[in-house]
Amino acid sequence: MHINFPTQIELLSAAQSLTEHWSPRVVAQVNDQYVKVAKLLGQLAWHDHSGEDELFLVLSGRLRIEYRDQPPVELAVGSIHVVPRGVQHNPVAEQECLIALIEPIATRHTGDVATDRTRGINEQLRAIA
Ligand code: NI
Repeated sequence: MHINFPTQIELLSAAQSLTEHWSPRVVAQVNDQYVKVAKLLGQLAWHDHSGEDELFLVLSGRLRIEYRDQPPVELAVGSIHVVPRGVQHNPVAEQECLIALIEPIATRHTGDVATDRTRGINEQLRAIA
């Protein structure tokens, strides 16, 4: 699938323009990875991605990545964190947080867990309003 993305993206503006929490949108493709933006509030769901690492970059606010067997990772603006493949995690935003994500095209954002927050890739590929 070849998609024409805009040639220049201002990540913070793109994330700010989102109207729904926990509904990532794809803004670019790099090889086999998508770059996405998302607006977060509250917690997503415990899940893992069995074959894919997932990179979080905080654009505004703060994000906590909770783990089952290790301390949570607290991310401030400008920080990145890579969630290793196969590791259960739960993203939590106590207050609204804007992020960019880099993850493989095949990644499902709630892993094998289907929740009412799960968004299919076609929905993530819709143009940002
Ligand atoms: Ni994840």
